[in-house]
Amino acid sequence: MTTDTVVNLDLLDDVRAGLSQSQKSLPCIWFYDDRGSELFQQITHLSEYYLTRTEQSILEQRVDGLAQRLGAGTAVVEYGAGASIKTRTLLAALLEPSSFWPVDISDGFVRDAAKSIETLFPGLSVKPWVGDFMAGGPSRSDFQNAPTVLGFFPGSTIGNLSDAEISTFLRTVHDQLGKDALFLVGADLKKEPSILIDAYDDAQGVTANFNMNLLVRINRELDADFDLTNFHHEARWNEDASQIEMHLVSQCDQSVTIQGHSFAFKSGETIHTENSRKFTVEGLTAIAKQADWSVNELWSDPDQLYGMLLLEAA
Ligand code: AVI
Repeated sequence: MTTDTVVNLDLLDDVRAGLSQSQKSLPCIWFYDDRGSELFQQITHLSEYYLTRTEQSILEQRVDGLAQRLGAGTAVVEYGAGASIKTRTLLAALLEPSSFWPVDISDGFVRDAAKSIETLFPGLSVKPWVGDFMAGGPSRSDFQNAPTVLGFFPGSTIGNLSDAEISTFLRTVHDQLGKDALFLVGADLKKEPSILIDAYDDAQGVTANFNMNLLVRINRELDADFDLTNFHHEARWNEDASQIEMHLVSQCDQSVTIQGHSFAFKSGETIHTENSRKFTVEGLTAIAKQADWSVNELWSDPDQLYGMLLLEAA
């Protein structure tokens, strides 16, 4: 090991556990180092990746109606927050929102996001909240004077969570935001698999680089010796689970050393790096109901590619 490598111990735990399973896997949260976040931003602009632009157009069409419904003084909590165009569209349409609470695990990211929102919306009280959004964020008592509360979870990040994680998260937000809250959730819908494969294996190879960057990160942060030329990005549609899966496929029999441990790969064996679930409206409604949310409005695009659910605390 080189003396100047600082080992990321949480990553090491996940890598050791994930690569010791019969189906090797790595948690998708590790995609998002600086380079991974930059590549993800590029993905959102790809013609094949319809999710971001479709969600934005749905939001633009519906946000004024939502603003009228909420009235003045809403407190907005965004989970996994940024200062994305969606956030700006929402805050610009709302009638004098009282506070905005971006929640994100990355201290630097959430503070940068807060700063840019403060600059764009002078007078809005912006309260960055550093923490894993899976644990929710602020509670109703933190904005007790706000007449209305809106949770915001765009981007189909819900699709990267398991059933158990979705239930826990929806329940936590329900309990924290209180009985009068609305919760706006963006989710990608089930569709023709070829559209999905293209979205997750684009012609320019940006998604392939995003997936491969995980190995670059492990090499750098764990002083590992993955040979990148021996792995290949693959997007697979899993009909039974209704999800796109990203895999890194070993191109030969090989072994990789990570912090003194050797991991063997057979040719064709994969590391499963991400699930991106594609929902039906019925399925999502049922999941929400289990956490005591009911679907108050469902917004979609003319091709029904994407859905935004306005949930109401039941
Ligand atoms: C962040 N998340 C919603 C993206 C998705 O579509 O599942 C991540 C992504 N993976 C490959 N492309 C984009």
